[in-house]
Amino acid sequence: MTDGFVKNFFETANELISMDSLTLAYDKGGDAAPAIDKINLNIYRGEFVCVMGPSGCGKSTLLNILAGFLSPTGGTVKLNQKEIKGIDAHRGVVFQHPPLYEWYSVRKNIAFGPMMQKVPKKKIAEEVETYLAKVGLTDFAEKKVYELSGGMKQRAAIASALINNPDILLMDEPFGALDALTREQMQDLIRKIWWNTGKTIFFITHDVDEALLLGTRILVMSRRPGKIIADFPAHFTKEFIEENSDDARYTEAFHQKRKYILGLINEQ
Ligand SMILES: Nc1ncnc2c1ncn2[C@@H]1O[C@H](COP(=O)(O)OP(=O)(O)O)[C@@H](O)[C@H]1O
Ligand SMILES: [Mg+2]
Repeated sequence: MTDGFVKNFFETANELISMDSLTLAYDKGGDAAPAIDKINLNIYRGEFVCVMGPSGCGKSTLLNILAGFLSPTGGTVKLNQKEIKGIDAHRGVVFQHPPLYEWYSVRKNIAFGPMMQKVPKKKIAEEVETYLAKVGLTDFAEKKVYELSGGMKQRAAIASALINNPDILLMDEPFGALDALTREQMQDLIRKIWWNTGKTIFFITHDVDEALLLGTRILVMSRRPGKIIADFPAHFTKEFIEENSDDARYTEAFHQKRKYILGLINEQ
C-alpha cells in the first residue's frame, strides 16, 4: 500500500461535505460575475473550518448553500455523498442575530426543533437539560428570550442548533455583534463544544484573531467572484485546549499567520 492510498482511503472515509465546481450566480444569465465561482472543496468530519474574506466575497452565499437555503446555479454540493437539497435537520445554522422566539422561555426555544421532529416528550425534556448545561444556561432556562443579553441569546441559539444533532454546525459571524469580553467567552464556549462533541463546524468570521483562535483549518476567499485563494491548517485551538491556556496567541507563529491572512485579504 502506498501512502497515497492510505491518505485517499482516510480522506474518503472522513469526508463530510464535497463541493464540485460549486457556483452561484444571483443574476442568472446576466452580465454580473457570480457570487461564488467553481469552488472545489472537501470538508472532513471533526474539522473546525474558519472562513475569511473581504466583505461581499460570497461567504454567506456559500454557507446558505450548505444550509440548503439557496440552490447552486452550477456544480454540486454533497453531504455524506448525498446532494444537499433544501433545508433539513442535518445542518444546524447559527446567525449573528439568532432567530429565537422572544416571548418564549429559553427552555421552550431549545425544545422547539425536537418538538417539530416529534421526538418523544420525555426525551426532549432530558435533552433540553443536557444542552442547557452545555451552553451554561441551566439557571436561565425559564427566562424569556427578550430578557437575555446578546451573549446569552447566542448560547440559546447554539443549544437550539446542537439539540438536533446536526452533522455540521454552520455559523455566520455568530459573535460579530457581541462586545469584546462576551465574544471571548463565546469563543471559549464554542471551542469546548467542538472539542467535547467532535462536531464539524463551518464558521464565517471577519476577525482574523477569531479565525486563528478557533479554526483547525482556515480558508480565505477572493473578492467577487468568490473563490478559495488560501486553505491551510491552524493548530492554536488545540493548543489552547491541551495546555488550558491561550499563551499560543502571543507567539511568533500566531503573529506570522495573522500577518499572512491580513496580507491576503488586504492585497485584493
Ligand atoms: N439575494 C441576493 N441577490 C443578489 N445579490 C446578492 C444577494 N445576496 C448577496 N448578493 C451579492 O452577492 C455577493 C456575495 O454576498 P455575500 O455572500 O453576502 O458576501 P459576504 O457574506 O462574503 O459578505 C455580494 O456582491 C452581494 O451583494
Ligand atoms: Mg456575510
